[in-house]
Amino acid sequence: MNPEPRSIRRIAINTGGGDAPGLNAVIRAATLGAYECGWEVLGIRRGYMGLLEAEVDGEPGICPLTPHSVRGITHLGGTILGTTTRGNPFGMEVRRPDGSWGTADLSDTIIERFRRLEVDALVAIGGDGSLNIAHSLHQKGLPVIGVPKTIDNDLQATDVTFGFQTAVEVATDALGRLHSTAEAHQRVMVVQVMGRHTGWIAVASGLAGGADVILIPEIPFQIDRIIDKVRERDATGRRFSIIVVAEGARPADGAPSYADETGRYGGIAERLAEDIETATGKEARTLVLGHIQRGGSPIAYDRNLALRFGAAAIRCIHDGNLGTMVALQGQSIVAVPLGEAIAALKTVNLANDTIQTVRQLGISLGD
Ligand code: F6P
Repeated sequence: MNPEPRSIRRIAINTGGGDAPGLNAVIRAATLGAYECGWEVLGIRRGYMGLLEAEVDGEPGICPLTPHSVRGITHLGGTILGTTTRGNPFGMEVRRPDGSWGTADLSDTIIERFRRLEVDALVAIGGDGSLNIAHSLHQKGLPVIGVPKTIDNDLQATDVTFGFQTAVEVATDALGRLHSTAEAHQRVMVVQVMGRHTGWIAVASGLAGGADVILIPEIPFQIDRIIDKVRERDATGRRFSIIVVAEGARPADGAPSYADETGRYGGIAERLAEDIETATGKEARTLVLGHIQRGGSPIAYDRNLALRFGAAAIRCIHDGNLGTMVALQGQSIVAVPLGEAIAALKTVNLANDTIQTVRQLGISLGD
């Protein structure tokens, strides 16, 4: 399945799933690294859509990536290739002849299109969903190397994903700004951050940003504990409170998570604010940080990590080390089998010293 390094002539790069700051840095490093090896590089627009449609968003579905076209993009947010959360080749949304919508497995078509383009390997930059797709395509015969991206930081096998630290900076900055206005008005501010299944952003930003309560999916919360904390602060003269809640946090009484039928999360902050206001009589307001956590320029840490990942992906292809994902372990970039990398989500380690620190600082985790 792995091509001989000498036989590589052309590779492709795509970005899938929700964007994360640093995608363009990976594209740049991988493209420049490939050119160093004497390979051509094709960019596939919007995940795999560019292979199915001649034009995507008014641009060619497939575009050559050259040292010229990746110039000056390291600091740019988003992705020059575009992305989509609705382009799974194994369950692509298609219009049936009767006009209704359904899903179809177009994975064979996708692999055939890569073959026709004489692509020897694909650098798939994505989170858990996109890397699952990449792994399945690899198993069907397309040589793939994965690059772990997600602001949620929930991918196994890598200490950190690129984009995460930028999201933490955005959330921490917001918490800093909220302190003065919350204090001025003696309000409770409930700040909802991203994190469907894990509380990495909530813990890191809540700790750095001086939150009083941090709620994460890994620790189902009890509303009474949160109300106790707000009252306790009031009693000691600190008449405002800042609560950080990950969008996927859930109450311990077994109530469902706050996701709608499409899997989108929302509503937990509003619900908490209502309950706190009713119980304490204090004004409680909400802020949903949303996609601002994913937008804009990556911080230096994420640029460097993304550049290292992109360059490492090319070394993996060169060494015939395909079906793997590049990962940061300690100080080093390593390659781990893709199947291993996507086997489970990386949740916040509750025994780790970070959580101990949160508790020692008197921050409530709602339990
Ligand atoms: O995977 C990252 C993430 O930011 C999640 O935390 C969030 O639920 C999701 O993406 C939202 O993505 P979108 O709104 O693009 O579907």
